[in-house]
Amino acid sequence: MNNLIKPTQPIGIFDSGIGGLTVARAITKLLPNEQIIYFGDTAHMPYGEKSAEAIKHYSIKIAEFLKYKNCKMIVIACNTASAAGYKAVVKATGMKGLIINVIDPAVNYVIKNHYRKKVGVIGTKRTISSNVYAKRIAALDPVSDVVQLATPLLAPMIEEGFYNNKISQTIINSYLGKSKLSKIDALILGCTHYPLIKTEIQKFYGKEVEVIDSSEIVALTVKEVLEKHHLLNESKPAKFGFKKTQQFFVSDFTQSFEETSKIFFNEKVKLKQFNIWEE
Ligand code: DGL
Repeated sequence: MNNLIKPTQPIGIFDSGIGGLTVARAITKLLPNEQIIYFGDTAHMPYGEKSAEAIKHYSIKIAEFLKYKNCKMIVIACNTASAAGYKAVVKATGMKGLIINVIDPAVNYVIKNHYRKKVGVIGTKRTISSNVYAKRIAALDPVSDVVQLATPLLAPMIEEGFYNNKISQTIINSYLGKSKLSKIDALILGCTHYPLIKTEIQKFYGKEVEVIDSSEIVALTVKEVLEKHHLLNESKPAKFGFKKTQQFFVSDFTQSFEETSKIFFNEKVKLKQFNIWEE
C-alpha cells in the first residue's frame, strides 16, 4: 500500500482537446466510483502538427497542474503526447507506474489478438512520424507487418463537430482507400479523437477488419494499475451527481467541446477555462 496516496484522490486525464473524453468516458463507465479531473489543451490543439519539444513542454505543464490538483494517477489520453511526452512526464512528476500512456495498452492488445498479422495504424503526423506503434509491435512480434498512415485532417474535423455526416464520411473514405492500408487484418485508431468516427470507419471496412478503439482497453489498464497499487476507490459514488464530482478544464473555451462532452456524459458538463501558461 502506498502510504502517501489515497484511493479517494482523483484521476487526472489530459488531451489536446475532446479526444481524451473517449478515454475519460470509458474510465468513468468502468470505474464509476472514481473522480476525474480532465484537462483539454484546446489553446494548443492540434498537437499533431507541433514539434516533439513543444508537446513535451505542454505535457509536463499539464501533468504538473494535475499533480498539484492532487491526482493519484495521470492518464495521457492522447497518442501524440504519449509518443512525444510520456518519458518527460514520468521524469517531471516522479509518478512512475502511475502515469498511463495510451499506446502500450493498444500494442499489448494487438500482440494478443493479431499476432503475425497485417496491422494498420492511423494517427496524427507527429504520432505516425515517431514510428512508435511499429517499433513497439516489432519488439514483441517481429513477423507482424505494421503499415501506418498520417490522417491529419481527422482530429481538427472532429474537434469542429464534423462526425457522422457526409463530409466526414467522404474524408474518411478518401484516407482509408489509400493503397498503403489495403488488406489489413486490424486497424488501430492511433488518436483518441477517432473513436468518435469509429462507426464511419467500420462502415468503410464492413466486418472484414477489426477497428481497435483503445479507450476501453486503456480503462482496463487503469483499473489493473490502480488495483496493483491498492488505489482503487472503493467508497460509494458521490450522491451529488456527475457535474460536481467530475471536473473539466480547458485552456481555451470552445463550443464544440461543451457540446461533445454533453453527448458523452448525458448531462451538461461545466467547463472551467484555465490557462496554465499565464500563471
Ligand atoms: N487526440 C490526440 C491524439 O490522440 C491528437 C489530436 C491533435 O492533433 O491534437 O493523438
